[in-house]
Amino acid sequence: MIQTGRREFLRLIAGAGLSGVVLDGLLRRIGSTTLRPSPDQPIKGLKLGLISDLNGSYGSTFYADAVQLGMGLLLQAKPDLVLCAGDMVAGQKTSLPTSQLQAMWAGFDQSVRAPLEQAGIPLLPAIGNHDGSSQQQQGHWVFGRERRQTELFWGKHCGNLQSGFIESKRFPFHYAWRRPGLFVIVIDASSANVDSSQRRWIEAALNSAHRQPDDLCLVMGHLPLTAFSDGRARTGECIANPQGLAALMRNGGVDLLISGHHHAWYPSESMGLRLLSLGAMGSGPRRIIGSSLPSPPSLTLLEWTRPATLIRETTIDLNTMKPMASDGLPAQVSVSGFPVARRRSLQWERGSPVVNR
Ligand SMILES: [Fe+2]
Repeated sequence: MIQTGRREFLRLIAGAGLSGVVLDGLLRRIGSTTLRPSPDQPIKGLKLGLISDLNGSYGSTFYADAVQLGMGLLLQAKPDLVLCAGDMVAGQKTSLPTSQLQAMWAGFDQSVRAPLEQAGIPLLPAIGNHDGSSQQQQGHWVFGRERRQTELFWGKHCGNLQSGFIESKRFPFHYAWRRPGLFVIVIDASSANVDSSQRRWIEAALNSAHRQPDDLCLVMGHLPLTAFSDGRARTGECIANPQGLAALMRNGGVDLLISGHHHAWYPSESMGLRLLSLGAMGSGPRRIIGSSLPSPPSLTLLEWTRPATLIRETTIDLNTMKPMASDGLPAQVSVSGFPVARRRSLQWERGSPVVNR
């Protein structure tokens, strides 16, 4: 089991053949002190770790070196909270026995969730297609057994999330969560079908009386609203009928919509929304459409130091342990049949309008 602390972090780095000196510099740049306030202090800021797509091959209970390195980095950077945009385990195969599904979640717990909990860092999950796909056939879940195991696992391990739940009847599939300064809505985009009843729920959640005007509002789901990467620009790999959902989020004042599944980092604007496609933390890198290079394993840190309104995102390449520059990414991703996404800045003002519709 991974333990917290600098010694363990450096051990992980040494195991991956990377220089601790390089990483020391990186941590100084991104800051390794927590912004978490004591209970009686006003909130001064937020530091969030954003991860996605950790899983190995079907049935695997182990994680790639990049995941181990990313975990070491998170434990050292000490974000207030980690959000995972899905594909934590390696399911979506009906032949996997229930005992294997349980073993996969136990592996995830040992490698990812428990070390974060021990470090006092809550982990907010979104469910991916490999965790518990919402695909249906003739009114029945295709992966009902996987969804059941996912629900059982997270039901058992939601202890340090309890105080933030605003609406958790369908946790971990869709739910709303808040801490001072931050309002998070997690949606079930584990398949392309985000149905009308969930859309109504999202609209109601965005209008929750618990949401405060100066909360940073994040929405997170596994599949994105539009196509980003090679091989994912097809039906079933993006949320169906995205325009209506985008309008609902635009009207609801969403600051950032976070997704995974496309295994490629791309900060963008589309349909009047600010989007963030996270790179895979584990295996299966993909190329952003129009790019010649695959997106390496990565994680993103998002920081907001209040009362300033500037939000700063830093995405770390887990091969080189260096921050990634966005100017090498295509200026836009445009594929027939999908909304255009345009690359955006890594620094942005909370509440500022998004011009690209
Ligand atoms: Fe996925």
